[in-house]
Amino acid sequence: MSKPQAIHLSDYRPPAYRVTHTELTFELDPSATRVKARLHLERHPEREAGEALELDGEQLTLKSIAIDGQALGEDEYRLTEQGLRIENVPASFSLDTEVEISPEENTALEGLYRSGGMFCTQCEAEGFRRITFYPDRPDVMATFSTTVVGDAASLPVLLSNGNPVERGELPNGRHFVTWEDPHPKPCYLFALVAGDLKQVEDRFTTMSGRDVTLQIWVEKENLGKTDHAMASLKRAMRWDEETYGREYDLDLFMIVAVNDFNMGAMENKGLNIFNSAAVLTHPDTATDAAFQRVEGIVAHEYFHNWSGNRVTCRDWFQLSLKEGFTVFRDQSFSADVNSAPVKRIEDVSFFRTAQFAEDAGPTAHPVRPDHYIEIGNFYTLTIYEKGAEIVRMLRNLVGWEAFRRGSDLYFSRFDGQAVTIEDFVACMAEASGQDLDQFMLWYSQAGTPEIDAHGEYDYARAEYRLILRQRTPATPGQPDKQALHIPVRLGLVGTKSGRDLALTLDGESLGRDAVIHLREEEQEFVFTDLAEAPVPSLARGFSAPVKLNFPYSREDLAFLLANDSDGFNRWDAGQRLALLALDDLIAAHRNGVEKVMDNRVVDAFRTLLTSDTDDKAVLAEMLTLPSEAYIAEQQPLVDVDAIHAARQFVKQSLARSLRDEFLAVYQANRDDSPYAPEPDQIAARSLKNVALSYLMSIEDEEGVALAQRQFEAEHNMTDVRHALTLLTHSSRDDLADPALKAFGQKWAHDPLVMDQWFSIQVSRPQEDALERVKFLMDHPAFSLTNPNKVRALIGAFAQNRVNFHRLDGEGYKLLADVVIKLNRLNPEIAARLITPLTRWARYDETRQELMKAELERIRAEDLSPNVYEVVEKALA
Ligand code: ARG
Ligand code: ZN
Repeated sequence: MSKPQAIHLSDYRPPAYRVTHTELTFELDPSATRVKARLHLERHPEREAGEALELDGEQLTLKSIAIDGQALGEDEYRLTEQGLRIENVPASFSLDTEVEISPEENTALEGLYRSGGMFCTQCEAEGFRRITFYPDRPDVMATFSTTVVGDAASLPVLLSNGNPVERGELPNGRHFVTWEDPHPKPCYLFALVAGDLKQVEDRFTTMSGRDVTLQIWVEKENLGKTDHAMASLKRAMRWDEETYGREYDLDLFMIVAVNDFNMGAMENKGLNIFNSAAVLTHPDTATDAAFQRVEGIVAHEYFHNWSGNRVTCRDWFQLSLKEGFTVFRDQSFSADVNSAPVKRIEDVSFFRTAQFAEDAGPTAHPVRPDHYIEIGNFYTLTIYEKGAEIVRMLRNLVGWEAFRRGSDLYFSRFDGQAVTIEDFVACMAEASGQDLDQFMLWYSQAGTPEIDAHGEYDYARAEYRLILRQRTPATPGQPDKQALHIPVRLGLVGTKSGRDLALTLDGESLGRDAVIHLREEEQEFVFTDLAEAPVPSLARGFSAPVKLNFPYSREDLAFLLANDSDGFNRWDAGQRLALLALDDLIAAHRNGVEKVMDNRVVDAFRTLLTSDTDDKAVLAEMLTLPSEAYIAEQQPLVDVDAIHAARQFVKQSLARSLRDEFLAVYQANRDDSPYAPEPDQIAARSLKNVALSYLMSIEDEEGVALAQRQFEAEHNMTDVRHALTLLTHSSRDDLADPALKAFGQKWAHDPLVMDQWFSIQVSRPQEDALERVKFLMDHPAFSLTNPNKVRALIGAFAQNRVNFHRLDGEGYKLLADVVIKLNRLNPEIAARLITPLTRWARYDETRQELMKAELERIRAEDLSPNVYEVVEKALA
């Protein structure tokens, strides 16, 4: 392959020709599908006459080509690796092409491919060019009419976007269905599904009275696993009407579950295609977390119907326009229908672990990148999650009402158009009257800003001076950073009263919980009329995606943990307190000194465990120690073994000191009533299971017995899986092996449960994790061409910090071997899988060398653009 070239945002030009209407006919065949396309094209008004027509096309065998019905001679067009070029076309014309493609050889899962016995598509971002010659870019929007022809016996169901308008029998046992999608759309939203599928149907009446048929299509054996997705869909539809005033715009909305899928799901117009892991649930096979993930993803894809489909992106640099906004929308939805504080805690702890690491590594990029080699590499935590944090800041800056007016303006002004991030922010500025120019820097500047804060209380003047200093570290290609507009929500908690004090700033009274605006590199805020000394509670609710440093003492943190009125910061104070204790223990471990537990942490946990709380879900979060990955994020240089040992020590110390308290919590939260994925039950289960983790960490008789009993009771997958994980991660193989065996046999027929079985065993801290991975790669349920399996086995192992980072380098080698194989089979998944190796700079020299050696070994291969881009950045 030739050296891939970067594409730049600054090179954007409108397309020379637009497609107004697209007619497609598919004659499905596993190895030789025929695709006939008739494109109605016209010259773009801003472009000159006489420009050549350039169409994207990859891995297509052209069978015929004609303009306005006239076949073209071989010298009238030119075929390249990337597509097709025709000089001298009229201002308005139709183009007919017929191509042949081979779905069964398509292991990249982009374009039209086979999954089991079915045919399905994934076109975002640039998969449509593997289906037919087309201007494969989001600013070309056309109506589509699609006829799908297939074998009636093996493919009884033939689906595409929009509404079915005609169907019938054909000779040779074939049949067809024609679909019409009246809404102009970019080709990345095209979808086709054909197979032996069954459906569950429901109805929804929209706010204006449109009667919509809802269908979820699955393979027969999964018919019992759609209830939760259907209920989630209806909740999401109602929520979008009530919250954003957006209603559905077709008579039919379909979801299809497929087993082979690179990502979570795809928002194709009227025909969402889902990774089966993101849609199927059953109490016996899916955990609470999976139920909540399904609810969130169903909502996410549904919300795209407006934020993404009706109003789409001008070019792929604007990807966060639809993804950041839609993630923000799905997060708000999940917060509304579940525990809002827990949703925020979960999102932020994930964000601070994974997005911060991305932002600090060699693949760091702005929320709106200005260049890329392969757009498939930019479906990242930065584009999605940091993009959502930016939208959240906007909502908080302008207030919900102005935000809603801005969103109404955006949807009405740009309906049916492909637009930019500026267009979105301009609507917010217009609706609120606020100046958002400096705020726009959030989109173009990569890296995580750090705020160093310190404060001083002056008794004599009854004043608190808070000094905030911001800086954003250099990232690749961006050595110098400008000051951002950072909203800092805060309270000052009185040390005597334990209450939020009234805030007066520059003579203005701001209430007890306010947002201050950091716009300069350094700013001082003087709060006056404070009768008592405060402890500041800063960046409440994670009011901006930044690292906030404040020299809190452990007493300060214990105080905030007990008194902060902001639930999120109360949790965060606990995390900070635990991190301080962990720091000492990590140092002790490295220096070979005896580890001593900080009693302030034990006391804080005792208070938590024994105080009455009505919010069990938040309590469960508060009792959860920072993950090894998050602890690693805080360390200047990551010492995986010291981190693991320190965390384990804290866990066991707490378990020993508070054994009775944990036991009481466990017993008080057992529940034998039928499983429901409802907030109260979920909260009690999390609390119970957190307690069980502590009890099991010391592996005493009672903890072990409880875990075994919970495993054997088979009450629901949340409890079973948690117990199985504890048994498998214990030091005793006589606990792990029989449980794994029983579980593996019981669920051998269920691929989604087998994924969990794979992950659990390869994430165990025991030394044999790597050998297990190798062994399981030959298991009949494993397959390198199925992304879920790769994630469950290889991806999960790469998160196993002590074992992936083995000092003999075998963990790195195993990952590189898989990347090299997947580079050919599925470049998108291969590129993603490299991520842990790209973080080599965070480790000691020995590991650095080992990791770089594996990256070099990958680099020596004939690389896909996807893997090439990541490896080059990692070694730059
Ligand atoms: N737009 C999809 C979503 O809702 C993601 C699709 C990305 N697909 C891909 N192959 N990169 O998030
Ligand atoms: Zn999305």
